Formats: sequence, structure tokens, C-alpha cells
Amino acid sequence: GKKTFTMIKPDAFGAGNAGAIIKIIEEAGFRIEAAKLTKLSAERAGQFYEVHKERPFYKDLVAYMSSGPIIAMVLEKENAVEDFRKLIGATNPAEAEEGTIRKQFATSIEANAIHGSDSDENAAIEAGFFFSATERF
Ligand code: GTP
Ligand code: MG
Repeated sequence: GKKTFTMIKPDAFGAGNAGAIIKIIEEAGFRIEAAKLTKLSAERAGQFYEVHKERPFYKDLVAYMSSGPIIAMVLEKENAVEDFRKLIGATNPAEAEEGTIRKQFATSIEANAIHGSDSDENAAIEAGFFFSATERF
């Protein structure tokens, strides 16, 4: 597929790293199709991460993801989902490869700077969670 969805998470936005992260994303060949600075309520964050609701870290994750503004984006590139997951690196920054966004900007397994969709199907669902058709270019 040609599309993926991302969020610059509250830790990275709050630290002033949004510009640097967007520069890395564009230089890696992704085109920004939609972008929005917003803040998730706890309820909306809970819906977004519903798939993790039985996990022990779910409550902390919802609190963290609703703790400050985020930048949501839809990105376009050939092989978008897989290539973007490579660019961001492992969930745990201690395991992320050199040069990945999480290696450079994440501070913990939870506050890990950025989200990337894990399948074409979820990319479409997640893009629809944040953007209407008239907000995508
Ligand atoms: P996303 O791109 O954000 O979906 O990350 P991911 O696909 O690499 O990881 P996953 O979907 O498994 O987990 C979603 C998010 O939950 C992670 O990005 C972290 O912010 C958080 N998370 C995952 N595992 C843990 C954990 O063991 N402890 C805590 N506190 N948070 C976790
Ligand atoms: Mg995930």
C-alpha cells in the first residue's frame, strides 16, 4: 500500500522535536497528505488504542497519549507501512537501530516519540479516525 498514518507523540512534540522529525520523514521520501496539531481526550486515546485494552500498560498509555498535543499525519510512499516502521525503529528505544527516529528522540518504551501503523488496514482506519476526505491532499 501507498499510505500510512503517524502521530508525533506528546513527549516529542513537547520537547520541541516535531520539526526535526518531520524533516527526517520528508527526507526519507514520504509525502505529507494530511497533517493536524490536536490533543486527544482520554476517551479518544482509549478508543485509538482499544486493541491494547487488556494489556497491563493500557491505562498509562492512555494517560500519556492524552497528556499533551500531538501531530497526526497521513503519509504517502510506495511500501509506506513497512518502510515507515523501519524508519521509526523498535517500540523500545533501547532496542531501536541507530539512525531511527525512536533511537534519536524516544525517552522510554512508553514515551517513544512516534506512532506508525502496523498494517494497510489499520493505516486506513487510523487515518479515518483523525481526517475527513476534505482534509487530505
Ligand atoms: P505504535 O506505533 O505507537 O503502535 O507502537 P508499536 O506498534 O511499536 O507498539 P505497540 O502497538 O505494541 O504499543 C503501542 C504503544 O504502547 C507503544 O508505542 C508505547 O507507547 C506503548 N507501550 C508498548 N509496550 C509498552 C510497555 O511494555 N510499557 C509501557 N508503559 N508502554 C508500552
Ligand atoms: Mg502498534
